[in-house]
Amino acid sequence: MKLLVTGGYGFIGSNFILKLLEEHEEFKITNVDNELGGSNPKNLSKINKNKNYEFVKGNITNHKLMEDLISKSDVVVNFAAESFVDKSINDASPFLISNIIGTHTILDIITKQKKKLIQISTDEVYGSLKNGSATEKSILNPTNPYAATKASAELLVNSYFATYNSNVIITRCTNNYGPRQFIEKLIPKTIILANQNKKIPIYGKGNNIRDWIFVNDHCDAILMSIFNGKEGESYNVSANNEIDNMTIVKRILQLMNKSEELIEFVEDRPGHDFRYSLDSTKITKELGWKINTTFDEGIKNTVQWYLENPEILNNISSTALDSTPWKSSN
Ligand SMILES: NC(=O)c1ccc[n+]([C@@H]2O[C@H](COP(=O)([O-])OP(=O)(O)OC[C@H]3O[C@@H](n4cnc5c(N)ncnc54)[C@H](O)[C@@H]3O)[C@@H](O)[C@H]2O)c1
Repeated sequence: MKLLVTGGYGFIGSNFILKLLEEHEEFKITNVDNELGGSNPKNLSKINKNKNYEFVKGNITNHKLMEDLISKSDVVVNFAAESFVDKSINDASPFLISNIIGTHTILDIITKQKKKLIQISTDEVYGSLKNGSATEKSILNPTNPYAATKASAELLVNSYFATYNSNVIITRCTNNYGPRQFIEKLIPKTIILANQNKKIPIYGKGNNIRDWIFVNDHCDAILMSIFNGKEGESYNVSANNEIDNMTIVKRILQLMNKSEELIEFVEDRPGHDFRYSLDSTKITKELGWKINTTFDEGIKNTVQWYLENPEILNNISSTALDSTPWKSSN
């Protein structure tokens, strides 16, 4: 099977490609990435010479390029997106281009060429929830510009299924953590600052809740959607692991034998959603997906990975570790 992975230099895309090459010899993978925020070519340097992998630098909004790449592929897995929530609050325009126009470019081509699209979406499309968990039937109610562009992309995907019977599937996952995440995000930033004995900034009181999943478990769900997912369907992906930010930071400090005095509270960002939560009964029952990594195992593995791979920090600007908190929802 020939897979076109977009945004493969980013956090989830790079873990997905590495897992696939390790576990499935039958896949040939092309990674198209424009090396924007969140990308790190070092994430995939160890497979540069793998005969089943090639990298193409390019933008998913480039119709001609995408036509050519999709013509050589069976399935497109669309990870490429502007993903930093805070940046979308400062200026949403690049988000509209990559997340909406980019998805539309791919949709148009896969429809004409009769190929398959797996659209990687997010729990943020449902917005903040006071109680309960969102199911695939819940309304989309995004409350920040990033989430609004992801929800817009989903509406386009669904409209293409309804109008042209395009071969599309959407996965909506909760907050991922694990190796290779960009260092501005909560977990890597906490590990790196703690290792340098620097202050760790936390938004508000640190009581915002996210539902955390180890990245490899999300990658398994995507693979199952490629093989067994039903056309036109959406699948929520969650590990039912709701934890507030303060508990995560304290757990990391404990694992690293560091003092909680490193924690520093800073003013919350505007529109900071308090709680996301997903019900993933559908993917569990219909595709047999389940999580394989407990939070305890996953967080130990992640701390260890960042401490053992300091070279990942090369080429990343030092402002990524400045005194503002992590610059995204995760
Ligand atoms: N990180 C999470 O917790 C999470 C949770 C659920 C869903 N998602 C979704 O998963 C996908 C990947 O997230 P991530 O955390 O790996 O993001 P990331 O920011 O680490 O990676 C995104 C990658 O996409 C590339 N990219 C962006 N715009 C592009 C364009 N126009 N053309 C080509 N390449 C482009 C970037 O260069 C980068 O390498 C996103 O679609 C995101 O919405 C993320």
